[in-house]
Amino acid sequence: MASWNVYVTRQIPDAGLKLLRDAGIDFDMNPHDRVLTRDELLAGVRGRDAVLCLLTDTIDAEVLDASRGARIFANYAVGFNNVDVAAATERGVLVTNTPGVLTDTTADMAWALMFAAGRRIAEADRFTRAGKFEGWGPMLLLGQDITGATLGIVGPGRIGTAVAQRAKGFNMRVLIAGPDPSEEILGIADEQVSLDELLRESDFVSLHVPLVKETHHLIGERELQLMKPTAYLINTSRGPVVDEKALVHALRDHVIAGAGLDVFEDEPALAPGLAELENVVIAPHIASATNATRSKMATMAAENLLAGLRGETPPNLVNPEVLAKR
Ligand code: DGY
Repeated sequence: MASWNVYVTRQIPDAGLKLLRDAGIDFDMNPHDRVLTRDELLAGVRGRDAVLCLLTDTIDAEVLDASRGARIFANYAVGFNNVDVAAATERGVLVTNTPGVLTDTTADMAWALMFAAGRRIAEADRFTRAGKFEGWGPMLLLGQDITGATLGIVGPGRIGTAVAQRAKGFNMRVLIAGPDPSEEILGIADEQVSLDELLRESDFVSLHVPLVKETHHLIGERELQLMKPTAYLINTSRGPVVDEKALVHALRDHVIAGAGLDVFEDEPALAPGLAELENVVIAPHIASATNATRSKMATMAAENLLAGLRGETPPNLVNPEVLAKR
């Protein structure tokens, strides 16, 4: 395969790069420890046979055309809202993602945010470091119990299911809303309800939907108003699923008790006012960030890319229509 011309848009764990090297591919890679600028991306993909890209790269028609004939764009993420899949399909370009390997790690992060927000861990840490701890107090930093609470899972797919599995250990009542629930989550959930009902009843609402047209601003002012004033919103899916400006207002006005966010509407920027609020825990999109998981994602993305180059069906193809057209 030595003659293939491959571009990697940012350094990923070596497990994936090794697979490329072992296949004899002498790839080029973004030399900077940052997201490529638009011009750098366009220049980087030019004339490539395959591109290993990230969720921070916007792969649209212009980029696809700049690559002039790449067979595959292997996305290093389970979410692929950064890729214009319709444009890729139209041009006969395969698109792949990395599902499954980050399910548990992301579910763990949703739980970490649930605890951090509900039990005010980040706020307590700031408080203690600032030297404000003057001894145990009966009213100090009171939060929300997780054990026995009602957890609403919006998006009952792979990651939603893994979040639900963990809820059983905390004796929670589990509500689910959204299309195509997994068999497993149907066995775990106490009830499948409408989104509005889930918002009204839940103490914690955790979002696990892909970002598509229908889920853009799925949670806005109206939905936040439906939530209990004691409830928490957890988002490890994609930022634009939540109207972040509306969320800032809701947190500031105590329409809801708090939030735990790993993703933002206009990453890496935060909505004005968000970072100043005490009742939100914010993390820089690290839900899949463990050594093991990021290595598995790298391996999976490289395997997808190699399969695409070899003319095989990549294991995690998101646009199989391309093959039908061949
Ligand atoms: C994904 O894979 O979509 C996550 O957001 C990052 O790992």
